[in-house]
Amino acid sequence: MIMGICGTYDLDSANGRMLEILLKECESLGAETLIWDHGKKPLPLVGAPGSWEDAIVKEFQDMALSSDAFVLSSPEYHGTMSGVMKNSLDWLYSKHTSGKVFGLMATLGGQNSNNTLNHMRIAARWIHGWVAPEQIAVPHIKEAFEEDGSIVDNLILDRVKSLAASLVSNTIKLRR
Ligand SMILES: Cc1cc2nc3c(=O)[nH]c(=O)nc-3n(C[C@H](O)[C@H](O)[C@H](O)COP(=O)(O)O)c2cc1C
Repeated sequence: MIMGICGTYDLDSANGRMLEILLKECESLGAETLIWDHGKKPLPLVGAPGSWEDAIVKEFQDMALSSDAFVLSSPEYHGTMSGVMKNSLDWLYSKHTSGKVFGLMATLGGQNSNNTLNHMRIAARWIHGWVAPEQIAVPHIKEAFEEDGSIVDNLILDRVKSLAASLVSNTIKLRR
C-alpha cells in the first residue's frame, strides 16, 4: 500500500492532482494506493492542546503504519514545504516509517527550485525513510495542467512515470 500525503487541505489542488496522477501510475504497476484527506481529517498542530490524544492523529499514524511506502506532494511556500506538510511529517516517527520508501513531489508558483524537495528529503531521512532519487518539481504551476487535468509538459510526465516505477520496484525490494 502506497500512502499519498498532500501539502494542502484541498485535494482539488495542484498537489492533490499530482498525487492522483502519480498514484494512478503506481496502480497501473500493480500497487494499492490511498491519499490522506487533510480537508476531511485535519491534523492538529503537534503540541496543540489535546493533540497528543487526538483520534484523527491516531488514525493518520495507523494508516502510515499499515502503509509500505509514501508519496509526499507539497507546494513550495517561502522556499520550503507548506506547514501542512511539515506538520504531517512531525506526526510520523520512525516506528511508522522506518525502512519504507518515500517519493517526493513539489509544485511552485514561480521558477523551478529543489528547495522543498531537499527539505522533505531531510525530514523523511530523519524518520528513517528511504527516499527515491527520482523526484519531481513542477514550476509555473498555473500553466502546468490542461483543462482536462492532464500534465502539459511531457518531460514532467516522463518523471511521473519514472518516480512511480522506482517507488513500486523499490518498495517490493525493501518490503518483501
Ligand atoms: C504562503 C505562500 C507562499 C508561497 N511561496 C512560494 C515560493 O516561495 N516560491 C514559489 O515558486 N511559489 C510560492 N507560492 C506559490 C505556491 O507554491 C503555489 O500556489 C502552489 O504550488 C500551488 O499548489 P496548490 O494548488 O496545491 O496549492 C506561495 C504561495 C503561498 C500561499
